[in-house]
Amino acid sequence: MVVGVGIDIVEVDRIRKALLRPNFSRRILTELEETYCSTSSGFSALKVAGRWAAKEAVIKALGISLRMQDIEILNDPLGQPHVSIHDSKFDNKRLKIFVSITHERGHAAAVAVVERSILQIPL
Ligand SMILES: CC(C)(COP(=O)(O)OP(=O)(O)OC[C@H]1O[C@@H](n2cnc3c(N)ncnc32)[C@H](O)[C@@H]1OP(=O)(O)O)[C@@H](O)C(=O)NCCC(=O)NCCS
Repeated sequence: MVVGVGIDIVEVDRIRKALLRPNFSRRILTELEETYCSTSSGFSALKVAGRWAAKEAVIKALGISLRMQDIEILNDPLGQPHVSIHDSKFDNKRLKIFVSITHERGHAAAVAVVERSILQIPL
């Protein structure tokens, strides 16, 4: 059953400016996400903004405080993003998070949905 939903939107320019600060990407992206968001000329502000929006949406959907770095969002070969949480406060066995990301030139937005598996009651 669905137990949480979150949404976020961010201006890509805000992220573009933040990326000029040393350590900004390190604070919000995992190493694999940094690789995904990299281009030959540095980070793609559009892709980083998508990650930022998705992580904010995940935090809202879960309702617990998490470091952005503990939320990892990686794309499968078809491009679909998948979320992993690296924090002991998170119940990895019973909770599953789904995100969807979109970005246009000026903005990136994302929604997150948290699903909890229902305990099987023995008959
Ligand atoms: C997937 C698709 C809808 C993305 O739409 P878009 O308008 O190009 O791009 P948007 O800005 O709205 O969304 C981009 C985000 O979509 C997500 N995305 C990409 N492919 C996806 C997929 N197959 N399923 C779900 N989400 C996907 C990614 O998170 C991406 O952002 P990111 O790369 O920063 O993580 C579009 O590429 C499409 O219609 N493709 C044809 C169908 C397709 O490729 N299906 C999968 C392969 S069979």
